[in-house]
Amino acid sequence: MKKILIVGSGGQIGTELVKKLRGIYGNENVVASDLRQLTGEIVENGPFERIDSTNMMQIIEVVKKYNIDTIYNLAAILSATAELNPMLGWNVGIGSLVNCLEIARVFGCAVFTPSSIGAFGPNTPKDMTPQDTIQRPNTIYGVTKVTGELLSDYYFTRFGVDTRSVRFPGLISNLTLPGGGTTDYAVEIYYAAVKGEKFICPLEKGTFMDMMYMPDALDAMVNIMEADPSKLIHRNSFNVTAMSFDPEILYNTIKKYIPTFEMEYKPEPIKQAIANSWPNSLDDSCARNEWGWNPKYDLDKMSVDMIETLRAKLGK
Ligand code: NAD
Ligand code: SER
Repeated sequence: MKKILIVGSGGQIGTELVKKLRGIYGNENVVASDLRQLTGEIVENGPFERIDSTNMMQIIEVVKKYNIDTIYNLAAILSATAELNPMLGWNVGIGSLVNCLEIARVFGCAVFTPSSIGAFGPNTPKDMTPQDTIQRPNTIYGVTKVTGELLSDYYFTRFGVDTRSVRFPGLISNLTLPGGGTTDYAVEIYYAAVKGEKFICPLEKGTFMDMMYMPDALDAMVNIMEADPSKLIHRNSFNVTAMSFDPEILYNTIKKYIPTFEMEYKPEPIKQAIANSWPNSLDDSCARNEWGWNPKYDLDKMSVDMIETLRAKLGK
């Protein structure tokens, strides 16, 4: 049985990934950790350790204590927040990654570190962006993601560390709110709609980006780490997507289920500039061919589930 450490467990992905992996591998085999002291299920149902992942010794102690063989490295500062504090974005994203890779080399662990659509930039082909293409991002977030992809591939080819990754698009979920990304609007819009509030959209009509519902993202993280390594031509990192839309398409989809919903555009310059530099849609055929990537949720199916779940959660 795998012995897994999740670094940065308290965020949008981590809170759900801990549950998912504990369901598969057993509560006691999945150690959650975060810079912050977390509370609730994540701490009560299985091991939790407080770790600042930029501190190598703190990770080493936990890897030794639990005989960890797989690390999911989720600690990072997301795109819009990182643009306000670039050094913090670099120090957390790269500090955490380098520590995880070095520890993996010494202790023989596999490492999953998510990359992002942010690893692409304004010179990248925008539509059906290929797996292997120009990666010259103009955000600090993107710079950390390209560096992460290169370093992770380097640790695989140079030291044989089993590194694997996907380039996530914007993730939409209903358990934990996203933390400072450019794609956050696609989550916040559902909360506004279900609460009966008007939504102020921070991006212009016509701003297309790839998106994915969290259940598919969780499957991606499990399946890539379980994939037969002999089938992997790529490693760091695979394009994956489930849908591509702009704010207007999303608004009109939600309006089918909540006809009174209203939205107004008030673009935020930093988020708009970041979104403009990212692809409209990804070609994820390599992930499909090499390890069977196959998302289950499209925009309509996701919207029905988001609205139902948020209505129950918010008592609306
Ligand atoms: P998040 O901001 O919601 O959560 C990050 C977590 O890391 C937080 O709980 C935070 O407390 C923790 N953290 C920050 N600094 C830390 C440190 N020094 N040590 C330990 N923990 C620390 O982020 P997320 O959305 O869950 O994203 C996780 C990963 O997935 C990131 O690498 C992100 O770039 C990537 N990703 C996310 C999305 C998305 O839409 N959510 C899309 C593409 C890629
Ligand atoms: N959701 C992330 C962000 O917007 C994409 O990597 O930063």
